[in-house]
Amino acid sequence: MIQEFKIIEWENNKVIMLDQRKLPTEETYVTCETWEDVAEAIKNMTIRGAPAIGVAAAMAVAISLTVDRCPLSVKDDFIKYIHKVCDELFKTRPTAVNLKWALDRMRGILEENKNKSVDDIVQILIHEAKTIKDEDILTNKQMGEHGQVVLDDGDTVLTHCNAGALATAGWGTAVGVVYSAVQAGKNIKLIADETRPVLQGARLTAWEAQKCGLDVTVICDNMAASLMAKGLINKIIVGADRIAANGDVANKIGTYSVAINAKYHNIPFYVAAPFSTIDPQTPTGKEIPIEERDPIEVTKVGCKQLTPDGISIKNPAFDVTPHELITGIITEKGIFQLPYKFI
Ligand code: MRU
Repeated sequence: MIQEFKIIEWENNKVIMLDQRKLPTEETYVTCETWEDVAEAIKNMTIRGAPAIGVAAAMAVAISLTVDRCPLSVKDDFIKYIHKVCDELFKTRPTAVNLKWALDRMRGILEENKNKSVDDIVQILIHEAKTIKDEDILTNKQMGEHGQVVLDDGDTVLTHCNAGALATAGWGTAVGVVYSAVQAGKNIKLIADETRPVLQGARLTAWEAQKCGLDVTVICDNMAASLMAKGLINKIIVGADRIAANGDVANKIGTYSVAINAKYHNIPFYVAAPFSTIDPQTPTGKEIPIEERDPIEVTKVGCKQLTPDGISIKNPAFDVTPHELITGIITEKGIFQLPYKFI
């Protein structure tokens, strides 16, 4: 039974989000009362996943209009304030382009309606943030319908990181395709890479897939190639944080290794992502900014220190998979293949 999770909600001018840092052991919710609260939640990964942080950013803009600090009496100050909030939110995480996409959409709606009263603009922008959320769920279900045709009854699918319901407003992208296939009556097994260092696969994909009744198995990242060699993986589907115009894909660190291993073993490697993840302004993967996160994510798991004091650490959160390793990009508009023309 595929579940509808409560990931992010707009309630009484506040944003309520599932605290993904605490999963899988605690299912608790965080209430954000200011746009700064949402910005912090994006940075510290209370909410994460490209589409989900886009929705969160749009809702942060909406909250910023409901607090006393919002300069409602002078239109010019009001408009400048919204752009300043968008500029600050833009800085929270650099790789997932859905964040910029959502902020640009809010700025665009502001521009279209700038001649209306400030009160009207506030209502229009709050409505737009809720629409971005609702559309995300719909988009994911459409993506699932297009994508599930590549999965055959009896397939075992490997995924990396969490590109499920938790990474979106609902249903998910890569894991959403698996949910759609299961809903269509196919018997599909899921393998989740644990996804060091933040363990989105072990903690999040495993949690939501298990809740949905999927047959899900967690492996350490370094086990995937060996399972491929044994013929235990039929297809791979991952999500994306940004897709460049030429089809290169930035996704969670480790995705590139999975794609290389898939090529060697002749296993189809799909990416599932909404159009809001495609960035026509970034020509190739080389231009995609890669977030470098706090070394503590590598040096510690919970309270347990894994490395000697003072050791040097690298912690890039994403890598780029070149388009030639990708079998197809599954979107809400269909499946795209080389040469990519996303129109
Ligand atoms: O650092 P995260 O957890 O935000 O990274 C998430 C991913 O890399 C996902 O695979 C990607 O955002 C696609 S989510 C539908």
